[in-house]
Amino acid sequence: MKKTVLHADRYFGGTPIDKRIFGSFAEHMGRLVYGGMYQPSHATADENGFRGDVIDLVKEQGVTALRYPGGNFVSAYRWEDTVGDPATRPVRTEPAWKNIETNQFGLNEFMTWCRKTGIEPIMAINLGTRGTDAARDLLEYCNMPVGTKFSDWRASHGFKDPHNVRMWCLGNEMDGVWQIGHRSAFEYGSSAVQAGRLMKRIDPTLQLVVCGSAGMVVPTFAAWDAEVLEQTYDVADFISVHTYFDNRNKTPQDSAVFLSASNNLDKQINAIIATCDYVKAKLRKKTTVNLSVDEWNVVYRPHGKVPDVDWTFAPHQIEDVYNLEDALVVASSLMTLMRHADRVKIACQAQLVNVIAPIMTSDDKAWRQTIFYPFAEMSRWGRGEILPLVSDGETYEAGVYGTSPLLDAILTEDKENGTLTLFAVNRSLDEENEITLDLRQFEGCRVKLHSVLNSEGLRDTNTEENPDKVRSEARGDAKLEGGILTAHLEKHSFNTIVLAKN
Ligand code: AHR
Repeated sequence: MKKTVLHADRYFGGTPIDKRIFGSFAEHMGRLVYGGMYQPSHATADENGFRGDVIDLVKEQGVTALRYPGGNFVSAYRWEDTVGDPATRPVRTEPAWKNIETNQFGLNEFMTWCRKTGIEPIMAINLGTRGTDAARDLLEYCNMPVGTKFSDWRASHGFKDPHNVRMWCLGNEMDGVWQIGHRSAFEYGSSAVQAGRLMKRIDPTLQLVVCGSAGMVVPTFAAWDAEVLEQTYDVADFISVHTYFDNRNKTPQDSAVFLSASNNLDKQINAIIATCDYVKAKLRKKTTVNLSVDEWNVVYRPHGKVPDVDWTFAPHQIEDVYNLEDALVVASSLMTLMRHADRVKIACQAQLVNVIAPIMTSDDKAWRQTIFYPFAEMSRWGRGEILPLVSDGETYEAGVYGTSPLLDAILTEDKENGTLTLFAVNRSLDEENEITLDLRQFEGCRVKLHSVLNSEGLRDTNTEENPDKVRSEARGDAKLEGGILTAHLEKHSFNTIVLAKN
């Protein structure tokens, strides 16, 4: 058995966690929208055609913000095709993913879906095939009170009140050669600053995200970000960070290495923070640009680059099936994002349903993939502040990801709820880890919950036929005696230990 001693000190103060860190991403591709969010023929569909079973799971997952409509899709997006009477909306070829787009679910359906679920919409604008003018029209359509051309058009579509979208992404992955309208950092920076200036002239309180690098593997990583920020610093509130952990072709021996994949996210975040602050210093700016990690997840196939279908409506596209080890990597990734809560204010798991997603659907059923659980538990219990936590335990060599702690843990405090929560992944593949945490400074606590996400095999998955094979269960042995918390964390498990103040 391994042992880890954790140390927390309440007087060192915490860092507030922006609730938008528990965001997600809905792109028009594959069966995300059609057959996922929207399926009028489904038994649980409401009057808008939204699947009720999917909405229930999204709510249970605790998604707080949703980026839309892409992704690569946004780089050829014509928002005007997506509004008004559905019977008159055009059916189009969608070039990013080579899908047929019927536009039956469009901008107003998305806003209605967000209102219904209580989720904050994050809109992206098309800087691939379009630019400032289309952004201006879209902003007027979404946010202006009636009395102008496009706000009146919105009202004529049944939406008198503005949608009032606060967050806007200026394009998507424009550094990627696969992106429609891909261009150099200089060219992208010039178009983004023009669009951003105009949007902030209309409403200075908008929050704008400029495109950072599509990942550390892109050859222009960090140089792109610096050049873009040099041009856009005055309009950029955030720069985007995208990261996908590749779990293709893994052999059993690779699991221990893969479980530390989130170390790369940490590295990437640190590199982009340094880049933002370098530009801040160079330009002698007072404001700070923060990070929007608005695409992150585990993936099995190359997905951003080459479409694997040709002109099909709602095809099965990158519907990765996740296993237990993926869920542990997702848990460590969210912990990494939360550890950086001072600079990472927004994060969107890619994506919401069916397409590399925590929720899957068939024509009639919806179920939770393994990666659903860590997200749901952290969104449920990980609100408030993240507290400094020092871990004294064993490390191991995780190949390309370097030296890594066997136990990956964070501590959060939600003063409103009166809870203190320890999240922990035991990365050991064969031994349990006994943890100890002295909580005598946090008086009056009791163990409210110790849930464990685990399964016999690291490759275990949930399927339509067996949807609950891998799931979180409240069966951990955490106990608090004399202010000292102890627990035995099973091998390859994710744990949520909630302490409630009496
Ligand atoms: O999430 C799928 C795709 O991955 C997105 O459309 C793109 O931004 C990224 O390359």
